[in-house]
Amino acid sequence: MADHSERVRASLAGRYTIERELGAGGMATVYLARDLKHDRAVALKVLRPDLAAVLGAERFLLEIRISAKLDHPHILTLIDSGTDDGFVWYVLPLVRGESLRGKLAREKQLRLEEALTITKQIASALSYAHGHGVIHRDIKPENILLHEGEAMLADFGIALAVKEAGGNRLTETGLSLGTPQYMSPEQATGDRQLDARSDIYSLGAVLYEMLAGEPPFSGATTQAVIAKLLTERPTGLRVIRSGVPTGVDQAVARALEKSRADRFGSAAEFVEALSSGPPAGRTTWWRRLNRRVVAAAVDCAGAAGERHVWLAALERGWLHSPVPDDAGLSGGRPHQCYQDVDDSEYRGLSTRGAPRHVTV
Ligand SMILES: Nc1ncnc2c1ncn2[C@@H]1O[C@H](COP(=O)(O)OP(=O)(O)OP(=O)(O)O)[C@@H](O)[C@H]1O
Ligand SMILES: [Mg+2]
Repeated sequence: MADHSERVRASLAGRYTIERELGAGGMATVYLARDLKHDRAVALKVLRPDLAAVLGAERFLLEIRISAKLDHPHILTLIDSGTDDGFVWYVLPLVRGESLRGKLAREKQLRLEEALTITKQIASALSYAHGHGVIHRDIKPENILLHEGEAMLADFGIALAVKEAGGNRLTETGLSLGTPQYMSPEQATGDRQLDARSDIYSLGAVLYEMLAGEPPFSGATTQAVIAKLLTERPTGLRVIRSGVPTGVDQAVARALEKSRADRFGSAAEFVEALSSGPPAGRTTWWRRLNRRVVAAAVDCAGAAGERHVWLAALERGWLHSPVPDDAGLSGGRPHQCYQDVDDSEYRGLSTRGAPRHVTV
């Protein structure tokens, strides 16, 4: 490794001086460097030599030029790139902060407002890039860098550049593109025609993790995560963290829909859905009243065996735990399913007799 960084130092002499290593991912090593021409600190990424050999330097550098055209306050734009002595390197503005991965490792769950601010900033970056026909393909906490309250999206266009330049030879490097915890189902199944909705899925998965403290699907192996991703529904955010507003819960669930046709059509639509609904953590009096009436009505309907009423109430976020298997069949159900309706409220209302048939 020392030999590697010495060779990089030597080949970049006169243009960049390398100060120290900042980190390393699956594809590259990142160095804190000084751009001698402009006398500024930058982040210099050097591709893994075996990957560079497979990709072909010129082809890769041509592909990443797409990302150099992106100019947005929340996108880390490519500022230089080149190849020397078998190395392929590219230069990005230096972010003197931490990655969202670092912050999550420390805090596990973020404050709602903070999670939403990060999501909205990244969504605005995506809206802009999607409008220019560029899909990120690798949205994950490692690629979101935080600097003085601003979230910056890194590695735009890199996943595609590696895929396009590497073609079938990529398997030789053992590199798997995309990260299973944040990959859309269509990306996980190898769909070549990914569109904006794949990035929206990944951003939904990142927001889910910021609020829940864990990604929507986890597993010991990539295959285990992908199997869940294709067949299971993630646990509702409000089940894990009851302070998450219903509107946010529903927006994240829609971003994480298996079929892209069921997701938001654009990052802007996702943001709009996140912004609607009552403020975080508060339940207004009319909403509490509404929930009491619904609780009583659903109770009567449930007792009368109308399972569909349960399901409709669950879908609208009025219940916080799944409908029990026997709901509507035996007439019984745990009334702690109801949001914000305590036992006394529930008993008082249900004995007063709510309508047997309700539309919810
Ligand atoms: N522009 C930057 N400014 C400051 N630090 C950076 C910058 N880019 C990357 N880093 C640091 O380098 C680390 C490695 O980044 P890198 O993009 O190579 O890996 P990764 O995103 O974890 O994985 P992948 O190989 O899938 O991209 C990051 O976690 C981050 O801490
Ligand atoms: Mg990265």
